[in-house]
Amino acid sequence: MNWGTASQSALVAAPTDARPDLSGVYRLIEADLQAVNHVIEQRLSSDVALINQMGSYIVNSGGKRMRPIILLLCARAMQHSGQSHIPLAAVIEFIHTATLLHDDVVDASQLRRGHDTANAIWGNEASVLVGDFLYSRAFQMMVEVGQLRVLEILAEATNTIAEGEVMQLLNCGDASTTEERYLNVIRCKTAKLFEAAARIGGVISGVSAEQEACLARYGMHLGTAFQLIDDVLDYSGSPQDIGKNLGDDLAEGKPTLPLIYAMRTGNTQQADAIRHAIEHNGLQDIELVTRTIESTGAIAYTARSAQNEADLAVAALADFPDSPYLDALRYVALFAVNRSF
Ligand code: IPE
Ligand code: IPE
Ligand code: MG
Ligand code: MG
Repeated sequence: MNWGTASQSALVAAPTDARPDLSGVYRLIEADLQAVNHVIEQRLSSDVALINQMGSYIVNSGGKRMRPIILLLCARAMQHSGQSHIPLAAVIEFIHTATLLHDDVVDASQLRRGHDTANAIWGNEASVLVGDFLYSRAFQMMVEVGQLRVLEILAEATNTIAEGEVMQLLNCGDASTTEERYLNVIRCKTAKLFEAAARIGGVISGVSAEQEACLARYGMHLGTAFQLIDDVLDYSGSPQDIGKNLGDDLAEGKPTLPLIYAMRTGNTQQADAIRHAIEHNGLQDIELVTRTIESTGAIAYTARSAQNEADLAVAALADFPDSPYLDALRYVALFAVNRSF
């Protein structure tokens, strides 16, 4: 199976110049993804015109559909036989989109998916409220599916995401944030939803408690790798590829791992420069900061941490029977680490 632009063996010795895409994965679950997109389209609708307008703007602006993909692949890999994977994959994308609407307000971001953010066009108030619409629509849809265990997983996940975003808010401007505190934040704000997606794929397929725990571990490590790379790309990516402005993290004084590592290992001058940038929301220092995180090896260190997480994600799948879907889950871990978008 040709998954995309990188071969699977690249997982062992992941080349940094081979940039994988998700085309092969999309092809494998094409019918499911089409059904999910249809549900998304349908369930965005509201009698309130602004909700329709903002909703279709966001949904049609693209997005990788990482979390629905994980839910669908896990369900397929676990031989799911029903239909609930479709609405639940839409639910998980709604929750993700709601967090992005809120996150772009909090981060004062102006560009997402290569377009102006909703807050840049309609303002913060509208973004917060439409984010709430998406959250609550997601919960209506979950209730329709009628599986208490799924509700429990997603109620816990959304609560943890909110905690993660609040913890991160408290870390902003705080140059004493440790790697451990940072990791805790990204596990909550990002990895938890990946974990929920993988877990739900298993739960609706009737897997054992041990198998559910393995899927949850896969999602959690994958989501952590994904956010570590997001934080790398905020300094070293191409705005065209990632569809976001570089430096958004620094503008908020967000102590991500590249900065934490550079402060920890750099000389006094380097550490002072980074500390100053964190404490003074130093977008004006971005060139110095970018040079410093590169010369201290902070980008490489963060990418290595992401690779370790991806390896742990793949290891969590070891006991499942082989299938194209399981291969695709392994490939997604490769993508998370080597992606450029
Ligand atoms: C962005 O997630 C938010 C993070 C957790 C880094 P994605 O990169 O999956 O966003 P889209 O949906 O593809 O735009
Ligand atoms: C991801 O964090 C936010 C959530 C998961 C809610 P970031 O703030 O790093 O994501 P981007 O870079 O804006 O996509
Ligand atoms: Mg953000
Ligand atoms: Mg980011």
